[in-house]
Amino acid sequence: METFEVTGGARLAGDVTVTGAKNSVLKVMAAALLAEGTTTLSRVPDIIDVPIMSEILRELGAEVTGHAPEVAITVPAQIGHIADYEHVRRIRGSVCVLGPLLARAGRAKVALPGGDAIGSRALDLHVMGLERLGASFDNAHGYLIAEAAKLAGAQMSLDFPSVGATENIMMAAVLAEGSTVIDNAAREPEIVDLCEMLIAMGARIDGVGTSTLEIEGVESLHPSHHDVVPDRIVAGTFAFAAAMTRGDIGVHGARPEHLELALDKLVQAGAVVAQTDDGFRVRCDDRPRAVDFVTLPYPGFPTDLQPMAIALNAIADGAAFVTENIFEGRFMFIDELLRLGADVRTDGHHAIVRGRERLSGAPVRATDIRAGAALVLAGLVADGVTSVADVQHVDRGYQQFVEALQGLGATIVRRVDETLI
Ligand code: UD1
Repeated sequence: METFEVTGGARLAGDVTVTGAKNSVLKVMAAALLAEGTTTLSRVPDIIDVPIMSEILRELGAEVTGHAPEVAITVPAQIGHIADYEHVRRIRGSVCVLGPLLARAGRAKVALPGGDAIGSRALDLHVMGLERLGASFDNAHGYLIAEAAKLAGAQMSLDFPSVGATENIMMAAVLAEGSTVIDNAAREPEIVDLCEMLIAMGARIDGVGTSTLEIEGVESLHPSHHDVVPDRIVAGTFAFAAAMTRGDIGVHGARPEHLELALDKLVQAGAVVAQTDDGFRVRCDDRPRAVDFVTLPYPGFPTDLQPMAIALNAIADGAAFVTENIFEGRFMFIDELLRLGADVRTDGHHAIVRGRERLSGAPVRATDIRAGAALVLAGLVADGVTSVADVQHVDRGYQQFVEALQGLGATIVRRVDETLI
């Protein structure tokens, strides 16, 4: 059992460099399956999801070598089709092998990932889109079993711009016969990143970055090199850390245009945000003001920064509404924040947060990656010591989080409690 022990009170100041995006690297690793030969990736984050995804690819016949930030994936002419429960349950994002497997192997048997701490996460849109392309689905013994003798382009509209469904459908459509149109597609920067990689592999995709993607299937793709897009959620986490601790943090290797709304909200809260050569800088001299947040698909405010928005408002001057529209269970971590003395009341997917001058350190538990990071930020502005348990969640999304925060002046250590193992 590992915990982060945070002693509150430090003003964070200095510089950090963000790594490649967790939510992109898994997809571009899966996309490598679409071409025989060696794909090389750079700016791969050193997080546990990457070796787990590597295991999934190895089971499918690929060879994965190297280590973050440089990884090479060599894919044979014939690939396997089974993604086992042991791995899929650990990283839900691994369902993104479904599209590539259908396109390359004509069949797929992928474990159903099950729910997680942010609520149930359906796959109906993935299935609907792939069925439109000609796949048939069955569900047996905890596996989604799909077959497609041939994939053919089709027109479809998603009920909701699901990131995962858009990616799976896209990765099948690039090798389908004829043209596919996906309306109401997701347009997160990670989708754009995947499109750019697919185009470099020879795919024909129009409308990149818009909600209508038009894909003209090609016979085959070739391997390429891809530099993973910087992680906007990690960059955003440090931006919130600067605002909450009345600090001054330069975030390097980040793309401020991917965080436009989030940075604008921090300006409303009283922070000064400046674009720099390779990222941005956030400084906040006074106690932040309360700001309302509403999560929405990109370019709306990201659900993955919603816990940080609640944590900021918990110590802000005033009261704010935070509305969560993407995941039903995303307020679960609020019970942990209440242990630090926060004043938050929820009603369905709305939360009202009344800011307190200071929070009060206590033992809390990370319920998921982003909740864990938000609890660390709350600990930084709480009196005394906050110990955040179950930090394996945080390690999934943040490379060397403790070291980065220490470098900014935070008092934080990782403790391994052997008596609990
Ligand atoms: C991805 C990100 C996650 C982020 C989310 C929204 C990865 C590995 N994870 O998750 O960090 O919070 O995008 O930006 O990239 N839904 C359905 N049916 C489906 C698919 C989704 O109802 O077939 C629902 C989900 O239950 C959820 C909503 O749509 O309520 C959004 O899900 P989606 O955009 O698919 O998120 P993920 O790809 O799972």
